[in-house]
Amino acid sequence: MRTVVVTGGGTGIGREVAAQFASEACNVVITGRRADVLKKAVDEIGGSVRAVTVDGTDPEQTAAVAREIGAVDVLVNNAGGNTDFDREEPRHLGDIADAWRQNLDSNLMTAVLMTTALLPAMPRGSAVITIGSIAADKGAGSYGAAKAAVASWNVDLARQIGDRGITANIVSPGYIADTEFFRDKLTDERRDSLVEAAMTNRAGTPADIAATVRFLASPGARQITGQTIAVNGGEWTTR
Ligand SMILES: NC(=O)c1ccc[n+]([C@@H]2O[C@H](COP(=O)([O-])OP(=O)(O)OC[C@H]3O[C@@H](n4cnc5c(N)ncnc54)[C@H](OP(=O)(O)O)[C@@H]3O)[C@@H](O)[C@H]2O)c1
Repeated sequence: MRTVVVTGGGTGIGREVAAQFASEACNVVITGRRADVLKKAVDEIGGSVRAVTVDGTDPEQTAAVAREIGAVDVLVNNAGGNTDFDREEPRHLGDIADAWRQNLDSNLMTAVLMTTALLPAMPRGSAVITIGSIAADKGAGSYGAAKAAVASWNVDLARQIGDRGITANIVSPGYIADTEFFRDKLTDERRDSLVEAAMTNRAGTPADIAATVRFLASPGARQITGQTIAVNGGEWTTR
């Protein structure tokens, strides 16, 4: 039975990824900072899912979690989001520095730390899948820059672990509904414009992302590595 770790697995995209892996009889570990949110997800998903409360920006906590989890076949670095949504408008240069560091911590460091901590216990045939964002291509302040950094890091990671038979890829979503990503800040007008920007004329769903993550973790995807796979309804094309 494969062991799958999904960071930020208590809500949104991560929760659906966890539920889909659980449905194919994997041992699934979900992480996040809010124990009550994780417990609710574990209760609702059922199967072999368990929760570990951790702040993925903290190296010591992450190292302890990795020791406790042990061998892992699939790591899904999903934790993150645009931390600017939880901040006041910056007024001083110090505020701007804090805001940029928070988005880099939330999106880049969570992935770098968990991957580095778990890699020694990942056998040949494993997969590291990290959730990026269309914001890396379109530009979106410190959040877009952090997701672009994640994509660049992934290329080097893939190169380093390729001869161990481990793949590393990014799944890069466009607008995905039914998550906590936008907090309460997404207006109807903005939602409509995001939907209209997609060639499919619909919002993406956590299930769209989970299906691509599962494919990248499947035997059919072993020659795919170092890539960024866009799942955005054509809002931004790679050609
Ligand atoms: N929704 C979209 O339109 C969209 C588009 C492009 C990319 N994405 C990306 O998709 C990923 C999943 O986001 P989502 O849309 O599903 O939003 P979400 O519902 O807010 O999920 C983010 C999850 O990450 C966890 N998390 C955040 N910081 C963490 C930390 N320091 N340590 C541990 N866990 C942490 C959160 O749990 P706690 O708060 O309890 O820690 C939460 O469960 C993110 O990387 C996001 O940037 C989303």
